[in-house]
Amino acid sequence: MENSNMGKEDFIMMLKPNVINLHLGLEKPVRILQLTDVHLSLSDERNKEDMIPYAAGRRDVFFREAEFPERDPIGYLQDAMEYSKGFDCTVITGDLVDFNTYKNYDVAKELLAGKDYMFCAGNHEFTPKPGTDSMELKRGSWDYIQSHFRGNMHIESRIVGGVNIICADNGFRLWTKEQLAVLKAEAARGLPMLVFCHVPIANDMLTLEGKDNARKLGYTEEEIAESVATAQYLVDEPLVKAFFAGHGHHNHYWDFHGKPSYMIGGLFKGIVGEITID
Ligand SMILES: [Fe+2]
Ligand SMILES: [Fe+2]
Repeated sequence: MENSNMGKEDFIMMLKPNVINLHLGLEKPVRILQLTDVHLSLSDERNKEDMIPYAAGRRDVFFREAEFPERDPIGYLQDAMEYSKGFDCTVITGDLVDFNTYKNYDVAKELLAGKDYMFCAGNHEFTPKPGTDSMELKRGSWDYIQSHFRGNMHIESRIVGGVNIICADNGFRLWTKEQLAVLKAEAARGLPMLVFCHVPIANDMLTLEGKDNARKLGYTEEEIAESVATAQYLVDEPLVKAFFAGHGHHNHYWDFHGKPSYMIGGLFKGIVGEITID
């Protein structure tokens, strides 16, 4: 599809915006671009040799899942960052890479260099190979991975046009007491809050039951209880107005305890969340 007659605008036209309008009674609309699930799948000689063919296989998996798109994930991320210039804020909600390799993070850093964005981690950011997640791997690789991005990928907030945009890591379906403290401090500002995270908010986050996977990942009972308390706070705090996530790779909307909740499809398919708050 790509040819020499195509300009930057044509590539941007290949993006597939999921257009969302949310009414909060703002004086002036705020426009947010959400990007998620790019799944960069690259490796080179600095990681184990078998990761090079493995990475090629993963690229093929996402190419097929996206039904043979015009652009590869790198191309779509370039397009989306160009497109983001027309928005008040850009939020990237994780699975930017498919696995933790030097090449993936070099490329991610290069593509985002000098750009303004908020970023939270997904479930793929820390794994050397999908399927090998653990809290130990996450804690051990956190500083290296964070060094490739601006901001704080655990939780950060930004006030834009009277809206408090919160971007928080829940990549393993769990929240933390540090996030709860930040959320409470942000709520004290009295502004409507929009919560962006990787995994869609769901009822299983509100109960201590069924947390066997969390235990397997290395979470303590105390950390699991703290996660449930944080998720419950997100439901109970009236200033939290809506949730925006990724992870499922397709667009979806649901009502979560009276709050609009959105899942945005994967950028490896060309999908972006085009969110207007007014
Ligand atoms: Fe994903
Ligand atoms: Fe994910």
